[in-house]
Amino acid sequence: MKKRFYIATDHAGFAVKAFVKETVEALGYEIIDLGPESDDRVDYPDYAKKCAEAVLKDEGSFGILICGTGIGISIAANKVPGIRAALCHDHYTAMMTRLHNDANILCFGERVVGKGVIADMIKAFAETEFEGGRHATRVAKIEYGCSYGADLG
Ligand code: RB5
Repeated sequence: MKKRFYIATDHAGFAVKAFVKETVEALGYEIIDLGPESDDRVDYPDYAKKCAEAVLKDEGSFGILICGTGIGISIAANKVPGIRAALCHDHYTAMMTRLHNDANILCFGERVVGKGVIADMIKAFAETEFEGGRHATRVAKIEYGCSYGADLG
């Protein structure tokens, strides 16, 4: 089945959005734009929430969230249980967060990384499968240990 991505930004991530959409489509994936539709000032938590909820509703899908640094929008997305939003900076971090963290949202900063790195991160994120095993235990602890206060040992 064709992998689906949802994308959202704030005003500081808006300019690169068209390039990101083209990149995802060129890799053969579908991408759904959750806004905003202009670079008018918006609050990144609103768009983080939109994208997080869309990813959770659509099993197996991924998200891409962009703000100026990638920091605010990733922090906001990670407040939604079930979301593992990874702020990435290069091929290595984008690949490792899929392998070890089963990240479901790729975040980055438009003011931090250039288009070459962005394209490389998207490909690495989309094409890398979660390794499971000991990493699955740790990912479960993020959800049920950190989010709900359970002591899983
Ligand atoms: C907007 O100016 C900026 O604060 C935002 O895009 C982001 O970088 C916050 O973390």
